Amino acid sequence: MEIKDQLYEGKAKVIFSTDDPELSVMYFKDDATAFDGKKKGTIQNKGVMNNIVSSRIFEMLAEKGVKSHYVEKLSEREMVVKKLEIIPVEVIIRNLTAGSLSKRLGIEEGLELKETIIEFCYKSDPLGDPFINEYVARAMGYATKEEMEFMTEVAFKVNDILKEFFDERGIILVDYKLEFGRHNGEVLLGDEITPDGCRLWDKKTREKLDKDRFRRDLGGVEEAYKEVMDKVLK
Ligand code: C5P
Repeated sequence: MEIKDQLYEGKAKVIFSTDDPELSVMYFKDDATAFDGKKKGTIQNKGVMNNIVSSRIFEMLAEKGVKSHYVEKLSEREMVVKKLEIIPVEVIIRNLTAGSLSKRLGIEEGLELKETIIEFCYKSDPLGDPFINEYVARAMGYATKEEMEFMTEVAFKVNDILKEFFDERGIILVDYKLEFGRHNGEVLLGDEITPDGCRLWDKKTREKLDKDRFRRDLGGVEEAYKEVMDKVLK
């Protein structure tokens, strides 16, 4: 397989076309951004670590019947993926209060929820990924009713699998974001599953092991990503 043109450069990744029209290559950068790109920085080796973590998680999810765009890990920073038409709806799952939910409702982080929460945002950098609901997504044509139902079902299934996977490794899965895309008429899980898009806390100490260390200038960012990588590989 030959890598061709750059198709898209995102905040943390670059997508390239290949000589196979069905496949793309996703390149993981060390760049980190937060607050809609207002805060910028670098997390040393993040691209390498996120490629390892995401590859392992997509492989594990595939074994449990969750289909994603993942095909194979190509190199240190590259992953071969199925080419997707991205659905512009970000799906967020929350197991504990944190982040924007805590801010919006004026509640502390880390509180147990009576039920798992699912939220949807419209994927738009200029608008700062605004909060939407299923009716907005359908009415605006971002996704069909069937696609919204499918993404919801997959997001909850991924939650059951990932909560247990991280729990076995001494990590609490607090919340995370998923993205999906269309490939030959099928909806597949896309993007990445890494500490960039998941809140992960140490089960014993509740220490943050994710991008909040960068967002909130807590220090020890690289060490936290490495700890997650080492535990995911166990
Ligand atoms: O900021 P908020 O609390 O809504 O984020 C919930 C979860 O979704 C966090 O794990 C965060 O890392 C992730 N997220 C993301 N990309 C976004 C919005 C949220 O990865 N654009």
